[in-house]
Amino acid sequence: MEITEKFAAMIYLDYAATTPMWSEVIEEMTNGMKEYANPSAQYSCARKARALVDRARAEIAGLIRASRPGEIFFTSGGTESDDWAVIGAAESLPEDKRHIITSAYEHHAVLESMKELEKKGFSVSYLMPKKDGTISPDSVKKELREDTGLISIMLVNNETGALNDIGSISQIAHERNVIVHTDAVQAVGHIMVDVRELGVDILSASAHKFGGPKGMGFLYVREGTMLHKLHFGGSQERGMRPGTENVNGIAGMAAAMRLSCSGYEEELTRLSGLRDMLIEGIKDSGLRYVLNSDPENSVPYILNVSFPGFRSSVTVVRADMEGICISAGAACSAGTVGESHVIKSMSRPKEVLSSAVRFSLGRQNTEKDMIRVAGFLKKLAASR
Ligand SMILES: Cc1ncc(COP(=O)(O)O)c(C=O)c1O
Repeated sequence: MEITEKFAAMIYLDYAATTPMWSEVIEEMTNGMKEYANPSAQYSCARKARALVDRARAEIAGLIRASRPGEIFFTSGGTESDDWAVIGAAESLPEDKRHIITSAYEHHAVLESMKELEKKGFSVSYLMPKKDGTISPDSVKKELREDTGLISIMLVNNETGALNDIGSISQIAHERNVIVHTDAVQAVGHIMVDVRELGVDILSASAHKFGGPKGMGFLYVREGTMLHKLHFGGSQERGMRPGTENVNGIAGMAAAMRLSCSGYEEELTRLSGLRDMLIEGIKDSGLRYVLNSDPENSVPYILNVSFPGFRSSVTVVRADMEGICISAGAACSAGTVGESHVIKSMSRPKEVLSSAVRFSLGRQNTEKDMIRVAGFLKKLAASR
């Protein structure tokens, strides 16, 4: 991947917020913008657009080991995918199955959908993570009730990188005929996401988290899963998600996924090395620190750490002054000054909660970046 000038000028450590697009994707999409036919039209140039959509669907289905391309539905991103999964699945449940299990640290796209369902009379249980930041399959089992119809637990937490054992959760759920959704937005394109191994019925993904365009995502829905639709209109996406397809975005997302998934294992090893360097830098900085990510149970590309004595927003601004982009939490809530609901769910003391920052790593980061960050942390410690 070529490093765009903008990203070369700074140390970008906010890949969980969004990722720079692959240069190959930018090129493909720039050319794609010259195509204008509606894929539903009858003439020959429209067939080219239709072929692009079909090819992208088949490619994405193959990359997550779906049984057939028809299990992939294109959406406008992770938020829409989550909303559709949660509301659509809940509304398809029978009257005697109106209990849902989720976690307290889901992305707001899931949590806000749950709130809507509560207003409609659904009962929702919010599980708390263990000390290591993961949701225990046992806690899911304990929470199951006769009327449980849906479980929605994220695969990778966007603030701590905690990696949940969704395979075991699905197994428990399916013994009781409960639908399982996972928000895999921070996993697809980074780690192996195999819907058969995960055993999930519904899975959400977002293209801009793996070097694709913003405003583009998909929902995997295992064949036979009951799911109501949220949009009404034409017959696109088999009538389930009407509206003229974003052909260029769809093709760009498939290309980004292909590029991200090829060689992901070596990339994970490389990122583990960088994450370990970052932890060493934190240890050597002289700062008081608390790791909110457990390296044993988290993906290597997200590290959340608190520096008690330095408010999150102060650390973020001071890092920015050194050309380092980090965040105080999820991008959609980072603009608002408040405490992270994720770190809060981990029952951390107040000073840990108010000083948490997230480093999220990606393809363009190097060892040199980690050395620069270590220097910044020493400077921060010296400023006390
Ligand atoms: C775990 C998770 N789910 C959902 C979303 C929402 O995705 P999008 O930005 O594509 O709407 C995000 C984005 O930050 C995320 O990290």
